Amino acid sequence: MTAFDGLVAVVTGGGSGIGAACVAALSAGGARVGVLDLRPTQTEEADRVLAIRADVADQASLDAAMAEVANAFGGIDILINCAGISSVGDVAANGDEEWARVFDINVTGVARASRAALPYLRHATSPAIVNISSIVATAGIVQRALYSASKGAVHALTLAMAADLIDDGVRVTCVAPGTVDTPWVARLLAGADDPVAEKARLAARQPTGRLVTADEVAAAVCYLAGPSAGATTGMSLAVDGGMSGLRPRRP
Ligand SMILES: NC(=O)c1ccc[n+]([C@@H]2O[C@H](COP(=O)([O-])OP(=O)(O)OC[C@H]3O[C@@H](n4cnc5c(N)ncnc54)[C@H](O)[C@@H]3O)[C@@H](O)[C@H]2O)c1
Repeated sequence: MTAFDGLVAVVTGGGSGIGAACVAALSAGGARVGVLDLRPTQTEEADRVLAIRADVADQASLDAAMAEVANAFGGIDILINCAGISSVGDVAANGDEEWARVFDINVTGVARASRAALPYLRHATSPAIVNISSIVATAGIVQRALYSASKGAVHALTLAMAADLIDDGVRVTCVAPGTVDTPWVARLLAGADDPVAEKARLAARQPTGRLVTADEVAAAVCYLAGPSAGATTGMSLAVDGGMSGLRPRRP
């Protein structure tokens, strides 16, 4: 027996980075997994992992994808809301259109996917939703105004959903990663004047002196999503190399 034997999970944004690591970890734990992404990747046989093109900005595509997963695997027990996009700049850097676009994906996308999954989660025996927030929800990080506001909203939404769904037995939590070594960060670094120096700065910002790995975030997600975390809801778990709480002295 492994932790997720007999359970079905859906991972939005499961085609890359943290989401892909969640898909691999949940599947290794015995879950059958639906991968919902703009660019989904079929990493295993379709009887274990079902890759479906879906857009978290489009309710109809999420409703159809959840139904496809539930029909194929017999229900949905776990939803991991991982799809998200970046935004760089201070509060004046982006106009209304960009603020609406980022909130539409990072915040309303969580609400849409949850709305689509809830009819199935309500019939599950140990249902859980895990949202991917960020260190930026609770720490001021330069040049991330819009992105930080969106992740702060994910944090708040996690608490509100946990309260609303507690009587349905649906646990809702979030994971707040620091800077994680994923294609997302690789793209950010590629745009820097000196990518090597910028990566060293990002690593040094975390007390552990290195970037978080996607597998480390996935391990936290699996803990929160699994039946053994049955008494844990309405909270955020930091996976940030100590960034949120530690101020170590450096030479
Ligand atoms: N990498 C980090 O340092 C870091 C830190 C904290 C939080 N996060 C969060 O983790 C999540 C994943 O980040 P990542 O680093 O793995 O990024 P990534 O770019 O490697 O993966 C993101 C995935 O989301 C998918 N996606 C984007 N928009 C979508 C949409 N509208 N519908 C469906 N899928 C969509 C992309 O296709 C991609 O596969 C994001 O929510 C991000 O905000 C990342």
